[in-house]
Amino acid sequence: MNFNEKSAFMEEQARLDEFNRKLEAGEKIEPKDWMPERFRKQLIRMMSQHAHSEIVGMLPEGNWITRAPSLRRKLILLAKVQDEAGHGLYLYSGTETLGVSREQLIEDLHSGRAKYANIFNYPTLTWADIPIIGWLVDGAAIVNQTMLAKSSYGPYARANLRICKEESFHKKQGYEAVALLANGTPEQKKMVQDAVDRWWWPTLMMFGPHDSNSPNSSELINWKVKTKTNDELRQSFVDRTVEEAHAVGLTIPDPDLKFNEEIGHWDFGPIDFDELYRVVNGDGPCNKERLDARRSAWDNGAWVRDAASEYARKQKLRTIKAS
Ligand code: 3HC
Repeated sequence: MNFNEKSAFMEEQARLDEFNRKLEAGEKIEPKDWMPERFRKQLIRMMSQHAHSEIVGMLPEGNWITRAPSLRRKLILLAKVQDEAGHGLYLYSGTETLGVSREQLIEDLHSGRAKYANIFNYPTLTWADIPIIGWLVDGAAIVNQTMLAKSSYGPYARANLRICKEESFHKKQGYEAVALLANGTPEQKKMVQDAVDRWWWPTLMMFGPHDSNSPNSSELINWKVKTKTNDELRQSFVDRTVEEAHAVGLTIPDPDLKFNEEIGHWDFGPIDFDELYRVVNGDGPCNKERLDARRSAWDNGAWVRDAASEYARKQKLRTIKAS
């Protein structure tokens, strides 16, 4: 190694030592800080998928806004779907701090290259699906996002902190409506139990594969991007949600579900990860419908983007002229 190569190596090593020191000290890594390229790429992967999930996640619920059973339920659902749009925008903005453009992220989604949460590729067949999404899907998201609010990457942690504040309303409104249906007419109870039966297992899949099959988790935990593993988060979700289901007289569709006195957790049955990977790789019930809807929304919204950028261009010209 010649002198220049040696000094370049020493400089790189010093940057890596500073990066690791910050992580060890529990400090946040900020966009202006040096970071390993692999760390940046992992964050772009995870944060953009999270953002895509929020935006695609608007579709199954948006499907019921015009058919909500009361004005109150319509108002709540409208507010929730708008919140999800905001979550997506926080997360896209957070991802852009890593040097990737919004256009590139959207193109990755529309081309099918980017992933988004498996759960949003299932249909919302009855009204009961909407409160079940609030209770189960947002409940699972809260378990995960509460952890991510402590992530080592500053913009991601702050985005999740903001998201969690709104998610707790999403879950509360969902569980309230579930409790009403579960204690309503026999038809309502049947409808909400059917929804639990369809959404329970895909919700458990939201936490990803078992830790032993998770190619990304150990690296993400090493960098404190995640502080809990997929299985730890899943177990925490099951423990709290089973109690909530029993409290309103609903059954969890898992014959192996049993409280384990020894370890103080609910044991549950095997998850069909073949289904997760089938759905994640494009073969779910609604994948095509979801991406078609996103592509046409993007195309139909082109005039808004053009008008906004033309306005910004003119504003900039006015400012330059005025100065
Ligand atoms: N849906 C889609 N893809 C999934 C998945 C799921 N449920 N679980 C795992 N995967 C993918 C991973 O992306 C990875 O593929 P990739 O390497 O090509 O990206 C592969 O399967 C292996 O999984 P890993 O466990 O190794 O990956 P991670 O460590 O990244 O764990 C994750 C997966 C739990 C989804 C994690 O990425 C994560 O926590 N992401 C941030 C949170 C998020 O995206 N939540 C989605 C729901 S948002 C939501 O619910 C909105 C709410 O407001 C309704």
